[in-house]
Amino acid sequence: MSSTLFRTKKVEQSILDTEEPEHALKKSLSALDLTVFGVGVIIGTGIFVLTGTVAKNNAGPAVALAFVAAGVACALAALCYAEFASTLPVAGSAYTFSYASLGELPAWIIGWDLVLEFALGTAVVAVGWSGYIQSLMGNAGWEMPVALGSREGADGFGFDILAAALVLVLTVILVIGMKLSARITSVVVAIKVVVVLTVIIAGAFFIEGKNYDPFIPKAQTVDAGDSLQAPLIQLMFGWAPSNFGVMGIFTAASVVFFAFIGFDVVATAAEETRNPQRDMPRGILGSLVICTTLYVLVSIVVTGMQNYTRLSVDAPLADAFKETGHPWFAGFISFGAAVGLTTVCMILLLGQTRVFFAMSRDGLLPRFFSHVHPRFKTPHRPTILLGVIIAILAGFTPLTELAALVNIGTLFAFVVVAIGVIILRRTRPDLHRSFRTPWVPVIPILSVCASLWLMINLPAETWLRFAVWMVAGFVVYFLYGRSHSRLSRHEETPSGDVAPPPGRGA
Ligand code: ALA
Repeated sequence: MSSTLFRTKKVEQSILDTEEPEHALKKSLSALDLTVFGVGVIIGTGIFVLTGTVAKNNAGPAVALAFVAAGVACALAALCYAEFASTLPVAGSAYTFSYASLGELPAWIIGWDLVLEFALGTAVVAVGWSGYIQSLMGNAGWEMPVALGSREGADGFGFDILAAALVLVLTVILVIGMKLSARITSVVVAIKVVVVLTVIIAGAFFIEGKNYDPFIPKAQTVDAGDSLQAPLIQLMFGWAPSNFGVMGIFTAASVVFFAFIGFDVVATAAEETRNPQRDMPRGILGSLVICTTLYVLVSIVVTGMQNYTRLSVDAPLADAFKETGHPWFAGFISFGAAVGLTTVCMILLLGQTRVFFAMSRDGLLPRFFSHVHPRFKTPHRPTILLGVIIAILAGFTPLTELAALVNIGTLFAFVVVAIGVIILRRTRPDLHRSFRTPWVPVIPILSVCASLWLMINLPAETWLRFAVWMVAGFVVYFLYGRSHSRLSRHEETPSGDVAPPPGRGA
């Protein structure tokens, strides 16, 4: 039994699978495309929306330190991701990596976990986008009917029609093809970066030193209320739930971590990269460094422009400019944020369909989903299925609690990838690694510790929801995946012969 649960898929087989004509994706992306993809998905709701929330509720001006803490955790994880991605240039990211190193059950767990990250992440960003569009519409004097607006804090039945529409339009674009998506992405990423630079440069002129006092507000005990909302670490150690202070910075870090999600998505596009061995590490690390720098600067500027207690939680960057008497800047920022969130949504959706595609190609999910479209060369079936489900989710679900669930799922994936680096170095020292994580096992161990630390700073209720999702995953695996897995059907041979294409041999 345990030998089947921990059977591994050979690295060579993973690479060969991608060469089966009916399962092959187009190899069209360069290092620059990947970096653009990375920046395109990383800068989003995290910096545009969550900065204000955490500065106001958890960290004050020290939100900049929270970005540094989350950035360090991500950089450690990125060093591990980059080694895997440059060794295994196959769709599926952490899922594929863990199939090669840890075994089938851990791979399933990760794949299931990534579905959570990308699906809910897409929904979260679509809802954030809808909020910005509605704010722009408000400027022009148009109001959405309440039942068709944002579900955050809304009463009664309603459906966020803009969020759902965005997801459906992006689904069509992804089905049509990677090339088109990459082109649209580069234009939109440029707009987004200009907006962020505008916040930093223009905002710097409106900073008032008194807003940085205190930089780290004193810890304040809060009414526990429903104690499940307190960070797990506070419950574990029996501490009174509190905000601000040094621990507040870590609570904030576990939330703004959402702002970094996406560099791992770059790894999911490995199979579509022209020279993955060289370009993947450049794409992942490059986009992470750019984004961390921008986040720290933006949060320092915004908390300097407006006292943290008065920051808005819906559109903090734009509202800080309104507050200082510059509505024109505010309008420009809102517009750019809305445009920028579009690419974030699209790339999360892309990552999601690629993980689903990889799991289905391995037989852990129905093989029906692993055929690529004969003309567009895209995995159209999972793209359409997931696009529709996410559109419904985005329409009905409020934003904030979902973001924490996305974070815990992603951090968990980081833990598994870091452990995988250590294991694969021992089990397959022979593999060519164009990028090697430095100081193994020190960096992977630090990465595991940093990710776990952020995880225990998330609310206890987030842990409960995550546990429910994972239990559901176990049920699906034991009822379907274990018996249908391509490995269980011996569809690969040790010599690395290509398995028969689906429809004929499977
Ligand atoms: N990092 C992305 C964002 O902040 C997911 O929206």
